[in-house]
Amino acid sequence: MKKIIAIDGHAASGKSTQAKRIAKVLDYTYIDSGSMYRALTYYFIKNNMLVDPINIKLIIENLKNVVFDFKTTGNSQVILLNGEDVEPYIRNMDVSEHVSKIAAIPEIRTFLIKIQREVSENLNIVMDGRDIGTVVFPHANKKFFLKASDSIRARRRYEELKKVDKDIKFSKVLENIISRDFEDTSRSTSPLKPANDAIIIDTSKYNETQVFNKLISIIKG
Ligand code: DC
Repeated sequence: MKKIIAIDGHAASGKSTQAKRIAKVLDYTYIDSGSMYRALTYYFIKNNMLVDPINIKLIIENLKNVVFDFKTTGNSQVILLNGEDVEPYIRNMDVSEHVSKIAAIPEIRTFLIKIQREVSENLNIVMDGRDIGTVVFPHANKKFFLKASDSIRARRRYEELKKVDKDIKFSKVLENIISRDFEDTSRSTSPLKPANDAIIIDTSKYNETQVFNKLISIIKG
């Protein structure tokens, strides 16, 4: 039977770093569900469809023009949007500022959850996101929920983003993390929350390796 490890949590709580490391040592496949919400957001921005106020009908109608494929890179499945590797374009602040609005649309979630289940078929996977343990894979073998204080998460994300954008402001990163958490936890369709059977880990006081050791020792039981 294939194995599923679900890692959910707040923005920049270290989910993807941990998920990648776990996938590597267990030789599972890492799948980043957030990259799918980000890729769609990028697509709508690029095609001038993200206007204020958001035109949900237009967004839903255009889902039919989006085809996702995946390429295997090491232990990860990397997303291709209409054949294009969009990874370099989906982590910037513009996408981050709009993604939670897109992720709150129920039709978007239905569309992506189907893809998340399909791409995982017949694979042992580690998937990270917001609703993996609650909605996408409620029967996952292990479920984790990572959290950390706002300022610690913003500091970690700021250090990452600064490598590619030297003008990035810490205050902007902090503001974005707080507003995304608010939108992700308060939406009516599959809001961000720990599954009842998730193990909650506060990473504020631990470094990356300490968190990893904790997770792997729980997984190996
Ligand atoms: O994991 P991330 O920060 O890259 O995700 C970007 C956004 O996508 C996040 O703010 C909310 C949304 N998302 C979601 O709603 N459900 C998921 N399973 C993954 C991400």
